[in-house]
Amino acid sequence: MYPSNTFKILSLMIHGFAIMQTTMGGDPDILTDFIAPEGTNINGSFFTFTGMRVLLTQETPPPTFHVLKASRAEFPALDGQSVSYAVLEFPTGSVNPPHVHPRASELLFVVQGSLQVGFVDTNNKLFTQSLQTGDLFIFPKGLVHFQFNSDSKNYAFAISAFGSASAGLVSLPNTLFNTTIDDNILALSFKTDVATIQTLKKAFSP
Ligand SMILES: *[C@@H]1O[C@H](CO)[C@@H](O)[C@H](O)[C@H]1NC(C)=O
Ligand SMILES: *[C@@H]1O[C@H](CO)[C@@H](O)[C@H](O)[C@H]1NC(C)=O
Repeated sequence: MYPSNTFKILSLMIHGFAIMQTTMGGDPDILTDFIAPEGTNINGSFFTFTGMRVLLTQETPPPTFHVLKASRAEFPALDGQSVSYAVLEFPTGSVNPPHVHPRASELLFVVQGSLQVGFVDTNNKLFTQSLQTGDLFIFPKGLVHFQFNSDSKNYAFAISAFGSASAGLVSLPNTLFNTTIDDNILALSFKTDVATIQTLKKAFSP
């Protein structure tokens, strides 16, 4: 009796813990106000990111889709704060290809221009929208999504907030065709031939 009950209680505890882990969505909580490098005398500068100033001095929009990030990697003070930002610039006709942020949902704000956006849920249902300047759109955590500036005359500019200091990026084209996954595996997966896979891969090789 006794050992089997202990086992039951233990396994319940383990399962409970696993559920807790999966339901707590964001970055882990920290036990200090903030995380600063050991032995440094920090001041307000540590909590300031000036990397977006380049946007004000930029004379012409970038020629291709461009992202300027303020995540933990660029802005260490975000460590443990569960937030980050990205500024997205879309020249006419440019796309941010289908991708996933494994660790965060994304709240996108269209500051200038318009954007076609969409995400696909886990039932393979596509949700799309045509966003105008001033609109916000939420991309749920971990789902495949994209943004496209279909306007042939106007540049588009958006700001995205993430619910993680390090949202992570899995770009589908890059993950599938710019790694060394075997051509046969990809051909079988996409129900095509190796030659087609090699053509797709070629666009990623220098
Ligand atoms: C704040 O810290 C930075 C980096 O350590 C230093 O360059 C700067 O002089 C400090 N500012 C003040 C007002 O102490
Ligand atoms: C392909 O992967 C390499 C190595 O990770 C990267 O430097 C390069 O930018 C990628 N190419 C494209 C077109 O994304």
